[in-house]
Amino acid sequence: MAEWPSHVTVFEVGPRDGLQNEPGEVGLEVKLGLIERLADAGLTAIEAGAFVSPKWVPQMADSGALYQRLVRRPGVRYPALVPNEIGLARAIEAGVTEVAVFASASETFSRKNINCSIEESFARFAPVCATARAHGLDIRGYVSCALGCPYQGAVAPGAVAAVAARLVALGCTEVSLGDTIGVGTPRQALAMADAVLEQVPAERLALHFHNTYGQALANIYACLSRGIAVVDSAVGGLGGCPYASGASGNVATEDVLYMLDGLGIVTGVDLDRVVAAAVFVSEALGRPPGSRVARVRGPRSPTPPDQGVPPGPD
Ligand code: HMG
Ligand code: MG
Repeated sequence: MAEWPSHVTVFEVGPRDGLQNEPGEVGLEVKLGLIERLADAGLTAIEAGAFVSPKWVPQMADSGALYQRLVRRPGVRYPALVPNEIGLARAIEAGVTEVAVFASASETFSRKNINCSIEESFARFAPVCATARAHGLDIRGYVSCALGCPYQGAVAPGAVAAVAARLVALGCTEVSLGDTIGVGTPRQALAMADAVLEQVPAERLALHFHNTYGQALANIYACLSRGIAVVDSAVGGLGGCPYASGASGNVATEDVLYMLDGLGIVTGVDLDRVVAAAVFVSEALGRPPGSRVARVRGPRSPTPPDQGVPPGPD
């Protein structure tokens, strides 16, 4: 029987996954201000940008400038997405020390997202990972569509496990299992995690759930029982994938922290500071934070943070 983790690393993806799909321009100052606040809150892994094609994802076009200006804190990782060798070269030039390659368990999503088949994506990632390792970079891998595909529908757990194992074989030290469109439910999430765990140990895995159907916390809770101790989330529930129409944001960091705290699982992250970061970015985007916790613990809340959570307004 796997043990529940006593400590979880919350891997913040808001500045990348959260902002990549924003329709309006998000200025560099806002991105840097957000990252600064997230580090202030005690987050130790903050995915800050993506060296993808600026034609495909314009919102990440300033990642080079961002990493050049980023004031790195000791003990904080700032990984960036890279889809190919061009992206890796740009990342290295900008001083990135950890990169993430992103594969898909769905053939159609792979083509829509990175314009190649799954097989071709691994042919691309092999030299990317070899060069990254030669430069001493850490490498994370993602498996998208782990619980469903916006084009193909159901995705077999075995397909997710096979892609995860291939990412590890390429040198990924952590593989994040992504419910890209947020359609999974806990039993399905567990079946997927169990299939992956037959090939990749829990210490190498991360959970990456989007919250389209409000199932993300339940899915995380289910998979924590398998000993997986890294959870991806985005401050304020930011997010959505440009190649997965209708997919809503990542599970909100502050909602994850609230649940983990209630479970007695240590994160080392200050919830109120994450709420402050959520409020900061939401004001910059001109809309309220998309998390439950920020609605009750944000600045307009009549309830002091240490007096429990009142019923929500709806
Ligand atoms: P392509 O058009 O097939 O690329 O795109 P290409 O190799 O044919 O090159 C075409 C042009 O793009 C060339 O320029 C290249 O130089 C340039 P031109 O000669 O026309 O002037 N180019 C680049 N420029 C800058 N940076 C690069 C780069 N590569 C080529 N890295 C490509 C293929 C993979 C580049 C493209 O499809 C792409 O960038 N896709 C990224 C899509 C993306 O970022 N999706 C969102 C992230 S994934 C996600 O959110 C899921 C995740 O969160 C997990 C989950 O939720 O499950 C991770
Ligand atoms: Mg995602």
